[in-house]
Amino acid sequence: MTESRSIHLAADLSFYHTDFVWRSPGGWQGHQYLGPEFYEDIARLAARGVFDMLFFGEAAETPENYGGNHDASVKWGMRWPKHDMTPMIPLMARVAENIGFGMTMSTTYHNPFHVARLFSSMDWITGGRMAWNSVTSGYKNEAANWGYDPILPKDVRYDMADEHMEVVAKLWGSVEQDALIYDQVSGEFADPSKVHLINHVGEHFKVKGPLPVLPSPQGRPVVIQAGQSGRGLDLAGKHAEMQFAINRTIESMKKHRTDLDAALARHGRSPRDCGVLWSIRAQVCSPAEAEERDRKFVESLPPQAGMIMLSNLLGVDFSTVDGRTPLSEMVERVREQQGHFGFFQDAVETSGPDMTVEQFGRIYLTDQAIKVVGTPKQIVDKIEEIHEATGENGGIILEGCIAAPDELREFVENVVPELQRRGLSKKEYAGSTLRANLEA
Ligand SMILES: Cc1cc2nc3c(=O)[nH]c(=O)nc-3n(C[C@H](O)[C@H](O)[C@H](O)COP(=O)(O)O)c2cc1C
Repeated sequence: MTESRSIHLAADLSFYHTDFVWRSPGGWQGHQYLGPEFYEDIARLAARGVFDMLFFGEAAETPENYGGNHDASVKWGMRWPKHDMTPMIPLMARVAENIGFGMTMSTTYHNPFHVARLFSSMDWITGGRMAWNSVTSGYKNEAANWGYDPILPKDVRYDMADEHMEVVAKLWGSVEQDALIYDQVSGEFADPSKVHLINHVGEHFKVKGPLPVLPSPQGRPVVIQAGQSGRGLDLAGKHAEMQFAINRTIESMKKHRTDLDAALARHGRSPRDCGVLWSIRAQVCSPAEAEERDRKFVESLPPQAGMIMLSNLLGVDFSTVDGRTPLSEMVERVREQQGHFGFFQDAVETSGPDMTVEQFGRIYLTDQAIKVVGTPKQIVDKIEEIHEATGENGGIILEGCIAAPDELREFVENVVPELQRRGLSKKEYAGSTLRANLEA
């Protein structure tokens, strides 16, 4: 990230196709289900707004958390289906120059050799526009799909992640930048002395190397980390260039930033070595209109929708929980699930002691992240406030909202011009690689 102080823009496309978004006004009705055209249009749209990155999360599962079977998830299309979005990225890259792509791949389930090779290869295909979002993965059924039932304890997953990211970095460094000779006359292709075994033998992984891929346009794809408990922050402090975070108030963002800075310092790095993309939901309309939109959306859903969503995210079966239970009483049960505890802890701390699980479930359907509503000027004021309060170090990621892609279009057409007018975000891409744009 170096010294860049501009507001970097990203959009989270992870669940644009499910979670009731497929039938809401402004959603993606009429498109071929999970066909490329929809995503290609989004890439063109975001590139018009000079977005740095489009982002895909990963959850390779059919959740059974609500009611102990997959009925609710499948019946209502909640967090299901979840295709592998890797093949979509090169298609999007072909229609939108310069925009980068963040793709999530688990350090728990995918061998570091596979991750290093795939992301280097993708970096080649996209001309240097890839970022790896490294996650330790907290979903129970995903764990069962990859052979872990029950899910591995969170601390073990974080131990594995630390070693995994170290191995990936070693593999990305195993072929020197000038190893390629490519001499048509002598026939020499590359210099063997510049290609190195890594011979890694650790507690969790054994990888000989080298990587059989030439150094990619970025040398190393950008490394993002998502996980916001103490272990997540520590991992980011050691290995990541960018973090993706969901905090529900500016106060909690400031605390997150301070904790991340401490983690960076512990690993001999500086705050500017790792930016944060703060998840926000922006709506260009009056607060009354925004409320009305969300009210209509929530009323069109089955009454248990919020509880299904929370069950899928947090691993607790909320069909067995009295809706009047205060959120704060769920802390231990959520912690025991070994899943997304960091996010839940922030939600409890920022929601007030009396909020019930039912209330939170309803709110969560529309307000997963901090909400920014108003005229373009008011929205940019708020984004600027967040940016300044957190050290002008990263940017924002628009959450997958209830009217995707319309809310993204509203943002590109109305908010981006105001950001650019004030010199807060780029008017044009600074370079052809993702890192060049993140550093501008
Ligand atoms: C903002 C954010 C995005 C995440 N995205 C994913 C994802 O796409 N796939 C996944 O398996 N886990 C994802 N995670 C989960 C983390 O990898 C981690 O397993 C989980 O959050 C538990 O760690 P924590 O308590 O440190 O956050 C995400 C977490 C956060 C905070």
